Amino acid sequence: MTTARLTVDPAFRVGSVDRRLFGSFVEHMGRCVYTGIYEPDHPAADEDGFRTDVLDLVRELGVTTVRYPGGNFVSNHRWEDGVGPREERPRRLDLAWRSIESNAFGLNEFMAWAAKAGVEPMMALNLGTRGTAEALDLLEYTNYPSGTTLSDLRRSHGVEQPHDVRMWCLGNELDGPWQMGHKTAHEYGRVAAETARAMKRFDPSLELVACGSSNAYIDTFASWEATVLEHTYEFVDYVSLHAYYDPAGGDVDSFLASGAEMDRMISAITATADHVGAKVRSDKKVKLSFDEWNVWRQSRFGGEASLDWRPAPELIEDVYDVTDAVVVGSLLVTLLRHADRVGAACQAQLANVIGPVMTRPQGPAWRQTIFHPFAQTARYARGTVLRVEPDSPVVDTAKYGEVPALWATATHDEETGDVVLFAVNRGRTEPLRLAADVRAFPGARVVEHLVLHDEDTTAVNTAEQPDRVRPRQVDGTKPDDGTLTVELPPVSWTMIRLTTR
Ligand code: AHR
Repeated sequence: MTTARLTVDPAFRVGSVDRRLFGSFVEHMGRCVYTGIYEPDHPAADEDGFRTDVLDLVRELGVTTVRYPGGNFVSNHRWEDGVGPREERPRRLDLAWRSIESNAFGLNEFMAWAAKAGVEPMMALNLGTRGTAEALDLLEYTNYPSGTTLSDLRRSHGVEQPHDVRMWCLGNELDGPWQMGHKTAHEYGRVAAETARAMKRFDPSLELVACGSSNAYIDTFASWEATVLEHTYEFVDYVSLHAYYDPAGGDVDSFLASGAEMDRMISAITATADHVGAKVRSDKKVKLSFDEWNVWRQSRFGGEASLDWRPAPELIEDVYDVTDAVVVGSLLVTLLRHADRVGAACQAQLANVIGPVMTRPQGPAWRQTIFHPFAQTARYARGTVLRVEPDSPVVDTAKYGEVPALWATATHDEETGDVVLFAVNRGRTEPLRLAADVRAFPGARVVEHLVLHDEDTTAVNTAEQPDRVRPRQVDGTKPDDGTLTVELPPVSWTMIRLTTR
C-alpha cells in the first residue's frame, strides 16, 4: 500500500471558516419548492405547509445560508407575484424551465421557512428582464421597517418586522445566452454597479454579490469578471462562481479529480479580482461566493426545449451514488482549502433538483449519498482552516493530468479544541495509507473516525433503501508517537475528529 503524508499544525493557517460556506440553494425549479420543502397536503406538513420531515433533514444537513429564488428562474421573476393573499396571486409561465408557476410559495413563505430551518436567507435579484427600480422596490419591501408604501404593504401581508436580508445577489448567470435578459459584460456591469450603488445608499452594510461566469468553459470566463468588476469593484463584496461536475463519458478518474478544476477556477477568479483591485487602486479584497456547485449529470438533461408547460415537473432529479458523494466531499475540501477568499458557497440545490434531500409527493423524505460529507463538514469544520500540504502518490487523469490521490484539509476550533481532518482517496483501485503528523497537538485523541465507502461505488439511497449508503464508524484509531496512521479505502471520504481537551 502506498503512503500519503501531511502535517496538521496550528501555525499554518489558511483562514477562518466562514459558516456561509455551508450554504444551499432553493430555486423555483422542478420539485425543489413544490413537493420538496413545501407541500401543504402532505401528512408531515406544518401549519404553513412546510414539510417537517424535510425541515428535520435540512437542520441535520447543517445548512447555514440558502440562496433564493433562482437560478435561471429569477431572471424573469416578478417578486410581487409571490406576496399577498394567495388566492390573488397570478399563475405565470416560467420561461427558464418551461413550467407553470403558481406563486403559492413566495418571498414571505421563504422567509418563514428559513426561520424554521434556522438558515440565513440570501436573495437573488432579477437583473435580467428587470432592473434597478424593481430591485430597490424589493429591498424596501423586504428590509425597511415601516411607514412607506412598500414596507406597509409587507405589514399588510402579515409580516410586521422587516426580514433584514443581509446578502443579495445582483442577478444570476447573465453571461449565459440561455438567461432571460442575457447581457454583455459591459451591459451587466453597468446595471449591477448602479443597482449596487443605490442599494448601498439604502444600507451600506448590505453584502452584494456581482455575477461571475456561469461556468469555467464559457468563452468569456475571467474576462467577464474583469469587466464586471471594473464597473462594480467599489460597490460589491463578492463575485460569484458556478460549477457543476459531470462524470460524462465515463471518465471516472477525471470525475474524481473534479476538485482540481474547482481549485483552478477559484485561483483564476481570485487573480482576476485582485488584478482589477490593483487597477482601481483599491485596498479592498473582493471575496468569492461559490453560490452554485454540485455534481450534476448535465449531459443527460435534454435542455429547456425538451420540457412541457407543467407545474413542478420532475426535473434533473439526479440519484447520487458513492462516487458522487466522494466527489462532493472533495469539492467541500477544495472550498475549505480556499477559506481565505471563498466567503460563501451554496450547494445547488437543496431538495429533489440535484439535491442532497429527496422526497416523494405524499411520501417519505430521505438522504442522498451526497448528504453525508456535507453534513459532517457543515457540523465539524469550524474555527480555522489549516494548510496541511499533503505529500501524496498521484492518479493520472485524462482531463487534469496527474493529481494527488489524497485530497485533504483540516480545521482547528480554538474554542472547543477540536481538530478535524477531512480526506478523500481519489484512487479507484488501491487503498491509501495516510500518515498525519499531529505532534503540534500533544495529547490529542480521536473521538470520531467516519468513512464513507462501499465495495459497490454505484450504490445509491432510495425511498425503499434510504440508508443503503451511509458513513461507518472506524474504532481504535489513535495517534502513535504523534502520528495518526489510517487506511483510506479506494474512492472514499473520511472525517477524523480529534480533541485536544
Ligand atoms: O441549478 C440549476 C441551474 O443551474 C440554475 O438555475 C442556474 O443558475 C444554473 O445554470
